[in-house]
Amino acid sequence: MEQQNGHAPDHAADLKGKDPDATDFANYFCTYAFLFHQKEMLEDHKRTGAYYTAIMQNQAQFRDKVVLDVGAGSGILAIFAAQAGARKVYAVEATAVAQHARKLVQHNRLGGIISVIQGTIETVELPEKVDIIVSEWMGYFLLRESMLDSVLVARDKFLKPGGALYPSHARLYVAPIRSNLTHQRQREFSNAMEGWAGFTNDMQRYYGVRMDCLNDAFHDEQKQYYQQTSAWADISPQQLAGRPWCFKQYDLLKVTQQEIIDSFKEHFELQIVEAAPIEAFAGFFDVQFKGSPENPASFEVLLSTAPDPDCGTHWGQQVFHLYPPINAQPGDRISGDISISRKKENHRLMRVIFQHRTTPNQPQPQAAGMKLQSTDRTDFYSIE
Ligand SMILES: C[S@@+](CC[C@H](N)C(=O)[O-])C[C@H]1O[C@@H](n2cnc3c(N)ncnc32)[C@H](O)[C@@H]1O
Repeated sequence: MEQQNGHAPDHAADLKGKDPDATDFANYFCTYAFLFHQKEMLEDHKRTGAYYTAIMQNQAQFRDKVVLDVGAGSGILAIFAAQAGARKVYAVEATAVAQHARKLVQHNRLGGIISVIQGTIETVELPEKVDIIVSEWMGYFLLRESMLDSVLVARDKFLKPGGALYPSHARLYVAPIRSNLTHQRQREFSNAMEGWAGFTNDMQRYYGVRMDCLNDAFHDEQKQYYQQTSAWADISPQQLAGRPWCFKQYDLLKVTQQEIIDSFKEHFELQIVEAAPIEAFAGFFDVQFKGSPENPASFEVLLSTAPDPDCGTHWGQQVFHLYPPINAQPGDRISGDISISRKKENHRLMRVIFQHRTTPNQPQPQAAGMKLQSTDRTDFYSIE
């Protein structure tokens, strides 16, 4: 039998929750069941290192505390909490990767402290309330995956009054960028349409079937794919054409479950400082580890996914390509609203709408009698 590091035997060993429902498993959870995917997250050292620092540099806050790890995956954050001196850690993981986490915990002789519980956090009962919740729940552009819902369920059900969340705060940003990818995607879109023209010709020649009645439908489908779906990118700070604008902040102790579910619209203002054209908006986020007002971190940590030449993260940035690009000059201002909502057909995917206008720094020279061209526009995207 494994030595239990001198701690009491695991009375929580028989705690269990329910599996995710089949559709949510197929849409979302299934990839997390693979060690391959857990490894990808673990070797994002900016991410894993930020959690390690936030926990290990705040050992005073963790010592002798009861900790809950929501979505434990490999169990890494639960292990950090135990290393920081937690008295008890509940590591809740919905997928079968929980079995690997349990093995890892035993192998690292932390079985007396950490109980790995397989099941969704929504269906788990714990024998006690907890002092700290640790969780790595962030998706692309922070909100994709909608896992924050589960952290808030855990907070409302299990966190003691005055308890802390690690991370405790989150912020969303948008920035104007220059991106060659915009032109590349435009070329790919044109190629796809050329390919369609050749394909419909062949169908008529080989089989006598006219397919041109589907031209518009194919065009719309491809436009949605190439122009209205955001793309992952690890952009360089040189691509920024102006300072990022923070349009949303969350205090994770205070935000309600309903606020997270509801769609929202926020204002943004982007001051252009580099030469145009602005080919895309880039979206990214950061999270802060500040503890709680009653148990503040003595060492605050920031995990940022902003463009960083030295060290990106697996989240990269979400790029919203602009067709056509905005012909802004240094000094011009792009302002407007960004709306974010969940997709009706899959609550873990998002819709993003930018409604914006460009205000020139200098009035544009006007030919006599010429109408001012409106720069108001709306761009629609989905985050898949
Ligand atoms: C982004 S991974 C983080 C894994 C690990 N904590 C780490 O930092 O490496 C999120 C994990 O949470 C799990 N998860 C997501 N929603 C959950 C829920 N409602 N209940 C339990 N586990 C959940 C996923 O299966 C996945 O393994």
